Amino acid sequence: MAEDTKAAPKPSVAPADLFAKLDELNKKALEGGGAARVEKQHEAGKLTARERIELLCDPGTFVETDRFVTHRCVDFEMDKQKFLGDGVITGWGKVDGRRVAIFAQDFTVFGGSLSGAYAEKICKLMDFALKSGLPVIGLNDSGGARIQEGVESLAGYAEIFWRNTQASGVVPQISLIMGPCAGGAVYSPAITDFTVMVDKSSYMFITGPEVIKTVTNEDVTKEDLGGAATHASKSGVCHLSSPDDPSAIARVRELLSFLPSNNAEDAPRAQVTDAVERDVPELDSMIPTESNKPYDVKNVVRAVVDNGELFELHERYAMNIVVGFARIGGRPVGVVANQPAVLAGCLDIKASIKAARFVRFCDAFNLPLVTFVDVPGFLPGTDQEYGGIIVHGAKLLYAFAEATVPKVTVITRKAYGGAYDVMASKHIRADYNLAFPTSEIAVMGPDGAVNIVYRNAIAKAADPVKARAEFIAEYKAKFANPYKAAELGFIDEVIYPHELRRRLGHALEFLATKREDRPKRKHGNIPL
Ligand code: HXC
Repeated sequence: MAEDTKAAPKPSVAPADLFAKLDELNKKALEGGGAARVEKQHEAGKLTARERIELLCDPGTFVETDRFVTHRCVDFEMDKQKFLGDGVITGWGKVDGRRVAIFAQDFTVFGGSLSGAYAEKICKLMDFALKSGLPVIGLNDSGGARIQEGVESLAGYAEIFWRNTQASGVVPQISLIMGPCAGGAVYSPAITDFTVMVDKSSYMFITGPEVIKTVTNEDVTKEDLGGAATHASKSGVCHLSSPDDPSAIARVRELLSFLPSNNAEDAPRAQVTDAVERDVPELDSMIPTESNKPYDVKNVVRAVVDNGELFELHERYAMNIVVGFARIGGRPVGVVANQPAVLAGCLDIKASIKAARFVRFCDAFNLPLVTFVDVPGFLPGTDQEYGGIIVHGAKLLYAFAEATVPKVTVITRKAYGGAYDVMASKHIRADYNLAFPTSEIAVMGPDGAVNIVYRNAIAKAADPVKARAEFIAEYKAKFANPYKAAELGFIDEVIYPHELRRRLGHALEFLATKREDRPKRKHGNIPL
């Protein structure tokens, strides 16, 4: 008799029993740290890790990995306390149909603290993301290193830091801070590209209020020390802050819409719902001709970009420079703009650092840079000099100079001194440089220049006030305009402001295929 006609052997365990075992494990895993701890989490105004993932991903797209992993610790009777998944949920899902890798720390399990096994789950996910070119989104809510595991936990952190560094510039990395993130644990978010914090329920610090009290005798609350408001306005650690978990997650979904999935891809082009050819008549009167009169550059940016939409980062930090994403003709771009409404748009230490990191992100991820220039120079003062404005200002210069993505620059009004060079000038290889007729491109403003160059002549004049005014008028006629720069080819075109959107759209279209090499080297040595 042929082999395949024999009756199949009866399985020793019915499949239904095997499935029941899986059902039971899955059910257990979904419970996290148990109903009481979940309730506590909700009482604190926080969602659970799973609820957060649900909101982040398109419905039904999240696939969990390593759901049954548990820790290996036997000390402190930890072998009697095991939770499936061990306090972190890892996996992949889709956001607006695009693939992302996600880990979400589960505060209901050992306070979301990181064990060796937990770290391995995150590392495995990051390796997967790097191989497949997927953005990594980390939802942080953790008491830090799992105290019972000692050095195994510290090693786990370092493995994550190492992967954060390897993935930097290869796949976008986004950190959401949705609870505690303290001690060395902060260094993973710090290496990632964007940190998004939730108001009131999240905090980040290296040493907490108690340690600070002991060491420096300062009294400070957790919120004041490391809450979202502090990091969004004082330290610059936080790029975006949001009132609650759902709105923070919504911000991340929006942020992703501007980014490519990895450095080998272009950012997704949106459907064009705003004509690129559109004139912007209001721009003709938006820039005050008086060179020291403030105006809000965000109005200028919004007037030019698709549908007036600017996704601003670091909105409350170093407000003298504006950075963010927008689209022109559906193409995502990185916008850098001096802000004349704050500190007259001067570059200072914080502004230089803020913009430099943004420029480097855009360069790493193929996002063209559109730069709006209205800058009187670097901020004078001992604070700035002692704080190292020389080195920090050089960061922005370096970042613009090393960037090989399409770089388009428009000078709306002042472009004085070194700041003219720094702000994506032709000389550091911007591709297309425009100027409005209101532009003033000069070594310094008329007042300062006249005081230096004509000091003696003014002092000797019969009417020094009149003489000074005449010298200023002469200087302005000669230098406070874009035409000398245009004559030398440092400005490609002087345009009517209402044409700007069209010009930018065309430039970005023609530069979309730009390829530019830099000298071969291990890496440059950006002044840090
Ligand atoms: C193990 C931890 C833990 C940790 C919290 N838990 N942190 N278990 N290791 N690090 C547990 C608690 O025992 C508790 O378990 C549960 O998580 C919830 O903690 P609570 O204290 O009840 O919650 P809450 O009052 O909200 O306070 C949260 C907290 C606090 C502020 C985070 O738990 C805390 O201060 N934890 C210690 C933080 C810390 O010092 N971590 C090490 C930092 S150094 P039960 O069973 O009661 O629910 C570090 C180094 C990283 O992280 C180095 C990288 C290089």
